[in-house]
Amino acid sequence: MKTILVTGGAGYIGSHTVLQLLEANYQVIVFDNLCNASEESLRRVSALTGKSVTFVEGDIRNDTQLNSVFAQHSIDAVIHFAGLKAVGESVQKPLNYYENNVYGSINLCQVMAQHGVKNIVFSSSATVYGDPVSLPLRENMSTGHPTNPYGMSKLMVENVLTDLHSSDENWNIVILRYFNPVGAHPSGQIGEDPNGIPNNLMPYISQVASGKLEQLAVFGDDYDTADGTGVRDYIHVEDLADGHIKAIERLSLSMGLDVYNLGTGQGYSVLEMINAFEKACGKPISYKIAPRRSGDIAACYADPTKAATELNWNAQKSLEDMCRDAWHWQSNNPQGYTS
Ligand code: NAD
Ligand code: WQD
Repeated sequence: MKTILVTGGAGYIGSHTVLQLLEANYQVIVFDNLCNASEESLRRVSALTGKSVTFVEGDIRNDTQLNSVFAQHSIDAVIHFAGLKAVGESVQKPLNYYENNVYGSINLCQVMAQHGVKNIVFSSSATVYGDPVSLPLRENMSTGHPTNPYGMSKLMVENVLTDLHSSDENWNIVILRYFNPVGAHPSGQIGEDPNGIPNNLMPYISQVASGKLEQLAVFGDDYDTADGTGVRDYIHVEDLADGHIKAIERLSLSMGLDVYNLGTGQGYSVLEMINAFEKACGKPISYKIAPRRSGDIAACYADPTKAATELNWNAQKSLEDMCRDAWHWQSNNPQGYTS
C-alpha cells in the first residue's frame, strides 16, 4: 500500500482528495497548520470512508516538523496543497504569500530531498496564464504575468519545480493548473468553508441562497462575452480530486515533469451560474450589477485534452451536479464546519 503525504489536506480540495485516496486504498498522512481549515473535515472524511487518516498539525515553513513526519513514515509521494489563496489579501500582504507559498514549497522540497522522496503533485492555478491571449488555454501557452502576488507565487513555485527537475531527473513532478473549483462531496458532509465573506462566486451565491448574505454583486456586465458577464471554467471538486489520483498514478510511472490543466473546457458566465444555482436551490438569487472587480479578466477556460490523453482523466460532472452539491453542503452546514 502506498503512503501519500497531503499538505493542506484538511482544506477544501485537500479533504475531497484525501477521501478519494482512502477509497483507492492509499494510506494518507495529512500535514496542515489549520490556518484555513478545521480538523472536522478529516473526521468527516474518516466517517464517510470508514478509514483513518493520520493527521499532523504543522507548518510547511517549519523544517523540524516536516523532518519528523518524513522520519516517522515511509512516504512514497507528496500532494502539495498547502498555501494561502486569497487574491485580494495577497495584494495587501505579499510577503505572507511569498513566504507561505514560495518559501514553504522550497522548504518542503528540501526536506523531501533529504529523505529521498522525489515524487510531488503541486496545486497550481489557471491564474498563471494571466490575461489570456487566446482561448481555450493550453499548457504550452505563455504563462504571462499573473496580476497579483498570489498568482505570481504559484508561477514562482512552478519555476522552482522546473529547475529542480532540470537539476536532478530523479524528481517526478506533476503540476496541476486548476480552473475554478466548485461543488462539494455529494453526501453534503464536506465542502468549502470560507472564512468571513467569500471572495469567490459560488460560495457567495450559496450564502445568498441560504440567507446568510443579502445580495450578490455581479462584477461587470460589459465584458466582451455573450451576456457581458465574466466567463469561467467551473470544475466540480470531485473531478478535481480524481485528477490527483490520476496524477499519483502517473508519478508511479516515473515520467519526469509534466503540467496539466484541470478544467472542463466549458465556460459559463456569472448570469448562467446564477441561473443554474436558482434551479438547484429552488429560489431566486438576489443580485445587482456592480462595477468590474480590479484584476478580473473577461473569460478563461481550459483545453483539457492533455490531461485526457496522458492522465486518462476527464471531468464527468455537469454544472447541475456542481450547483446541487454546493447547495446540499451549504444547506446542511449553514455555518460551515462549526454548524
Ligand atoms: P484551502 O485554504 O481550503 O486549503 C489550503 C490548506 O492549506 C488549508 O487547510 C490551510 O490550513 C493549509 N495551509 C496553508 N498554509 C499552510 C502552511 N504554511 N503549512 C501547512 N498548511 C498550510 O484551499 P483550497 O481551495 O483547498 O486550495 C488548495 C490549493 O489549491 C492551494 O494551494 C490553492 O492555492 C490551490 N488552488 C485553489 C483554487 C481554488 O479556487 N480553490 C484554484 C487554483 C489553485
Ligand atoms: C468568478 C467570476 C467574477 C464574485 C479566483 C482566483 C484564481 C483561482 C480561482 C486560486 C468572475 C465574478 C465573483 C462575486 C462576481 N483561485 N464574481 N461576484 O476570479 O475566476 O478566480 O478563484 O487559484 O486564482 O483569481 O474566481 O469565483 O472569484 O470569480 O460577479 O461576488 O465571478 O468577476 O467573473 P476567479 P471567482
